[in-house]
Order: sequence, then C-alpha cells, then structure tokens
Amino acid sequence: MTEIIDGNAVASEIRDNLTDAIETLADAGSRPGLATVLMGDDPASQTYVNMKQRDCEEVGIESHHVDVAGDAPPETLYDTIADLNADPEIHGYIVQAPVPDHVDYREVIRRVDPAKDVDGFHPENVGRLVAGDARFRPCTPHGVQKLLEDAAIDLEGKDVTIVGRSDIVGKPLANLLIQKADDGNATVTVCHSRTTDLAAKTRGADVVVAAAGAPELIDGSMIGDGAVVIDVGVNRVDADNEKGYELVGDVEFESAKERASAITPVPGGVGPMTRAMLLYNTVKAASLQNGVDVDLP
Ligand code: GUN
Repeated sequence: MTEIIDGNAVASEIRDNLTDAIETLADAGSRPGLATVLMGDDPASQTYVNMKQRDCEEVGIESHHVDVAGDAPPETLYDTIADLNADPEIHGYIVQAPVPDHVDYREVIRRVDPAKDVDGFHPENVGRLVAGDARFRPCTPHGVQKLLEDAAIDLEGKDVTIVGRSDIVGKPLANLLIQKADDGNATVTVCHSRTTDLAAKTRGADVVVAAAGAPELIDGSMIGDGAVVIDVGVNRVDADNEKGYELVGDVEFESAKERASAITPVPGGVGPMTRAMLLYNTVKAASLQNGVDVDLP
C-alpha cells in the first residue's frame, strides 16, 4: 500500500508544538510578530497571505499586513521595508513573491534585515545555509525535510532528484539535503528546464521532489518502483467548477501513486508545511532578537 503523506497532520503537530514557545516569549514581553507584505493584487498571493494571517491567529503570533499598490514605484515598497526593519514589534516579515515586473525582487530581499528575514532569502541567510550554519531555513525546503523525517524516511546515502532550480525551493533544498546531518547525507541531482532525459534522472531516484511549477510534469512512468514522491507544485488549472480552476501538483498523482511507496497529495501535502515553517521561523526570530531561549519542534 502506498502511504499518502498527510501534510495537514504534520503541520498541525508542528503548530501545536510551537504554542509553548510562543507563550514563553509572550510572558517575557515579546509575543512574536509576523508581517506580510503584498505588492499588487495577484489572487493566488492574496489567498496565501490570508492563510498566513489565519495561521498566526491560531497559534498566538501577532500578525500584521501591508498592501502596496501594484503600480507604486519600488521606493514605496522600500519605505515599507525600512519601517518593518525599524519596528520592534515585528520579529519577522515576508514580501510575497512575485512582485510586479518593474520591481527587482533581489533588491527587495537585500533591503530586508537578515535577522527578520523569515523566508531565509537574504544573501546573508543563503550564505549561512550553504555554509551549514542556517539561521532561517527557507520554509518550503524545511517543510519537505520535516515531512520526510515524520514519515521516517532516512536520506543517508539515498539518491534524491529535485526537479526545479528555484531560489525558493530547488537550490536551498539541494543544499540542505547534501549537508552532513541527520536530515541530510543524500546524493542530490538537481534537474531543470535544460536537463536532457529528465525521466532517466527521476526514475533512478529513491526520492523525487517535484518543484518545477509545471502541472503534472512527472507521471508514473518517470517514478522508480517504491520511490518516495514529494510534490511541491501548486498549479491553478482551468476547471469546470464554481471557482473556474482547480489545484494540481507537478506530479500526476494517480499514476505516480501506483509506483511510489509514499507520496504527498496536492493540496494537503507540502503546502501546509510551508505555512507551519513560517510560524517556526517567526518564533525563532523572536527568540533570537530577545535573547529568550525556547524549545523548537
Ligand atoms: N511566493 C511563493 N512562495 C513564496 C515564499 O515562500 N515566500 C515568499 N515571500 N513568496 C513566495
């Protein structure tokens, strides 16, 4: 029987295990505070930001939100960032990507105080992660590690193929999984849009992580017998329903399930883990900024 890895259940456990740390910080006068910044009105980004706000309320993190008009000059966003950097009640914040085309996201990231960069995207935090001394692991890669750990999938010596080389998922995940650590020690192949014979690289892997942003790119014929499949993709595709769309992953679930020993669904797999790890990073940020030690799950 193929195990369907339940991201909602694992995320819920992580949230529960954060509440003690949050109350310890609150008792010490520094309840963790997270801000989300959204420039423009991309509907998917609005949904994500709303869910992050709700998550904060559920665990006792103070949530704040700043909307920036999509046609505002980059300086308006920079001013928001400067305000958040200076605000002692904000321990962490994220600028939801993508930003409009006239704004350079790299420049945005460089302006975020690295101590408040709970996405883990600032060059200082990327460098620390690559050096094996991460301050904030980016939320999706960290969530993938936690899912694998919860499912008791030991990566030591395993071949992992990651499909996708994004700064948000593929690159940081590859760096984490090659580290000499209990949740690393894998041999990692990173595939991308110029990879030749993608199917050979996925078929030979013990673990396939699909993070290409391409609906159902990976089907069952590309999965080795008994492999573990982690689907990071969240793609809106047209559908004949009330919303007019449905969510599908980067993996064709039904055919991949026939071959895999364990697989994450979309939705309900990696997505809730990304959100839980943002809460985790916010608690860690508040702990570091206030010098209050807490146990993190
Ligand atoms: N857009 C898609 N994923 C992410 C993420 O993890 N962080 C931010 N800031 N934007 C995103």
